[in-house]
Amino acid sequence: MNKKSERAFLIGVNWGNESQKIFSESMQELRALAKTAKIIVADDFAQNLKKPNSATYIGKGKLTEIKNQAQKIEVNTLIFNNNLSPSQSRNISDISGCNVVDRTELILDIFAKHARTKQAKLQVELAQLEYAYTKLKRLWKHLSRIQGGIGFRGPGETQIEVDRREIQKKTTHLKKQLETIEQVSKTKRKKRSNKISIALVGYTNAGKSTLFNLLTNEKRFVADQLFATLDSKTRALISQKSEQITLTDTIGFIRKLPHKLVKSFHSTLLEVLEADLLFHVVDVSHSNLDDIISSVTEVLEEIGVENKNVLMVFNKIDKVTGVHSKFVQKKLLTEFPDSVIISAKTGEGIEELKNKIEEFLDKMKVETYLEIPFALSKLISFVYEKADILVEETDSKENIVLKIKIHRQYLGKIKKQIEDFELKKYINK
Ligand code: GTP
Repeated sequence: MNKKSERAFLIGVNWGNESQKIFSESMQELRALAKTAKIIVADDFAQNLKKPNSATYIGKGKLTEIKNQAQKIEVNTLIFNNNLSPSQSRNISDISGCNVVDRTELILDIFAKHARTKQAKLQVELAQLEYAYTKLKRLWKHLSRIQGGIGFRGPGETQIEVDRREIQKKTTHLKKQLETIEQVSKTKRKKRSNKISIALVGYTNAGKSTLFNLLTNEKRFVADQLFATLDSKTRALISQKSEQITLTDTIGFIRKLPHKLVKSFHSTLLEVLEADLLFHVVDVSHSNLDDIISSVTEVLEEIGVENKNVLMVFNKIDKVTGVHSKFVQKKLLTEFPDSVIISAKTGEGIEELKNKIEEFLDKMKVETYLEIPFALSKLISFVYEKADILVEETDSKENIVLKIKIHRQYLGKIKKQIEDFELKKYINK
């Protein structure tokens, strides 16, 4: 899909697995995806079927109608709102004479256009290969079925086998390259490990980058398009009290994205997996909040996010106006009592969000006793800087005894310094 002025029809089949409302929303989303991919949408076609046509997905009569219309108004591409099998893609293309693109291919095309960093580019390439591989696998199954299964050794099969092997080889190579990049980011994350980390997650276009910019003074690319940013970025969070927090902005999620493709973004999503807290950013002006929230939750489960602290951040409240706004806010706070409602654009609710961060940080603190030798004066200053001092006593001329409340992540470092000191003292005795 490289031509600048590609003209397309959007095609969707609702075969009873989705409500009419969700179906039309996903058609609207497909339109937004096409717009992001810079494709001109000439019209859309929808059909209700009991089940998709196995050869052409959409009914044959409807396809003929689409073909005639495409010829009449010079449309060269058909974009399907579903994922098609390879034989369906080929049949539709043969009948209509148009280029056929399914939903995942369109998303991958946008990914490819928006990938900026080496890591993002490799991940997109990997995702494209994984999808091509899945399609080939399905085509192989289909061919062996129509040719009588085992024993069939036609030219088609040979080519497919060669292609599959080629894809597997490339996939392994890409994974290795990504692992090297992962190793570098792992070192960077380790350096930051004494800081508390927050990661932004959410549906595409929820406003994650806008919020990221607001909270970090960054100038990350923001656009009213889907998947504007694919790579992740981490910066220090500007906060009144706590300086030791990092914020990470990552790739947005979308419904109906095949499981394997999400896995291709593993390197980017590591930041999410290792964060102490997630902000799940939701666009409140979206017409179906439940659906987009559960799509994101599903992806989080898929990538293995478990038992994480998640704060729901309802964004774009400035877009919901009038009486409706009060109703929406009340409903959200009833359903998600511990959430915040903000506008990353106007700054509304940001102070409350910052207070929530402080509350969270407070929850992460532990109370403990420390006996620190006076000789470790730097360490004592560090503790005074980072901890809330609850009790202070001097048990001898050698040590100060403190009861403190401090973030868990500092404790290991402090205790180790004391232990090392005691050990040295013991050895030198
Ligand atoms: P992806 O990169 O697709 O994942 O998007 P994102 O979640 O990073 O969203 P981004 O910050 O790029 O914002 C998407 C669009 O929403 C942009 O046009 C923003 O200007 C707009 N936007 C973000 N926050 C708000 C808000 O609070 N109110 C309004 N009205 N628009 C907002």
